[in-house]
Amino acid sequence: RTFMRTTALAAGLLSAGIAPFALAAKGGNSGGSQTARNPLRIPPTIAPGGAALTAAPASVNLGGGKLSSVLAYNGFFPGPTFRANNGDVADIAFTNGLAAETTIHWHGMIVPPAADGHPVDAVMPGASYAYQFPVEQRACLNWYHPHPHMKTGEQVALGLAGAFIVNDAEEAALNLPSGLHEVPLILRDANFDSSGNLTYTAKSSGFLGKTPLVNGTLNPQLVVDTAIYRFRVLNGANARVFRLALSNGAPFVVIGNDGGLLDTAPASVVELEFGPGERLDILVDFRDLAVDDRVMLRCLSAGWDLLEFAVARAVTVAGEIPVGALSTITALADPVLTREFSFDGMSRINGRVYDMHRIDFQVPLGQTERWRFKTGGNAPHPVHVHGASFQVVSRTGGRGRVLPWERGWKDTVLLLDGETVDVLIRFDAYRGLYVMHCHKLEHEDMGMMSNFEVV
Ligand code: C2O
Ligand code: CU
Repeated sequence: RTFMRTTALAAGLLSAGIAPFALAAKGGNSGGSQTARNPLRIPPTIAPGGAALTAAPASVNLGGGKLSSVLAYNGFFPGPTFRANNGDVADIAFTNGLAAETTIHWHGMIVPPAADGHPVDAVMPGASYAYQFPVEQRACLNWYHPHPHMKTGEQVALGLAGAFIVNDAEEAALNLPSGLHEVPLILRDANFDSSGNLTYTAKSSGFLGKTPLVNGTLNPQLVVDTAIYRFRVLNGANARVFRLALSNGAPFVVIGNDGGLLDTAPASVVELEFGPGERLDILVDFRDLAVDDRVMLRCLSAGWDLLEFAVARAVTVAGEIPVGALSTITALADPVLTREFSFDGMSRINGRVYDMHRIDFQVPLGQTERWRFKTGGNAPHPVHVHGASFQVVSRTGGRGRVLPWERGWKDTVLLLDGETVDVLIRFDAYRGLYVMHCHKLEHEDMGMMSNFEVV
């Protein structure tokens, strides 16, 4: 059943110039034992100009020795990585090959409302939709995923998500690690049935899977050189907060986050905590390791080994950690008003459950505002805004400060119980309808989301 579908899909991929290697029935996994490590999958890269993207069921090898039924974009789990330069134009012909309605939201991309994947713009099963938008923003790691009304959690958990990388001249001038030394890492958790197929059960407290996946790979290993690596890390989980550390105690050198490079010097930290929807741009220095050394990327909060780095090759051109400020960012200032948003229970913002046909507030284009996010319990609530990035200016309660990796531009910020987070935001690009919501996808699906209109 799945093979017929993937064969047809493969023909489409070939015409789009994409090698369908992920559709192959068997990959190079190293056998059935629990501790065997599988090569980390790297999704293929495509350009967003004149691209074709189909969401459909697929059967993929996650490295566990058997095929898993998932939902996939172009047959890949995670979906292909879009890579664009600031100034490119995206024109993505999307086809919904699912049995349910869906949309695509380009999380972190500043796009016109008609291309934003708002639930009112549902693409019905079998239908197509052209997502067209100019890529006009600084270099950063964004991502794309479904955003249909009340079904986002299910569709993401079953596999629909991919990365969207934007490059620019400022970033290029830093000579950061690239090619095989720049690796996207899409972290998530998952549950499987007894045949190894992805499963989903909605829970009002948020879906927490028992098994970690990195780039859709079970027990992954990345073979590395004695060099500096750049990891573009996405928390693509429905609800899980990851707290990352390296087994050798080495630091992560944070150079960027959701909205691109930091305006500080790189920040060295031995632990990083980030919530669903957030991204991290980090360097890890393997230069002092020896061939055959092993380092594990761990999630401390779940007690998981996420990804093993196996040093296989000593190299002399190994890169350098940049010194000094990575970028300059103009601070937003002098907000003309403050709006408060209380994330109440598991399904309400300021007491109201989402209604996709109700506009909850209006924001003038070009006006700087302070948005204050507070919790009424049931946190963490990763708060995400469409249509603009924001700057986190304060956090009180709980962790009590803006963390080093929360500087600069963000579009998602993690709110823990008892915390109040203030951000400054200004919508500069487009008028029209956007949403703001909790990115714990079960909260979003239950209604912890607001419509607003930029006017
Ligand atoms: Cu990543 Cu409105 O979502
Ligand atoms: Cu929430």
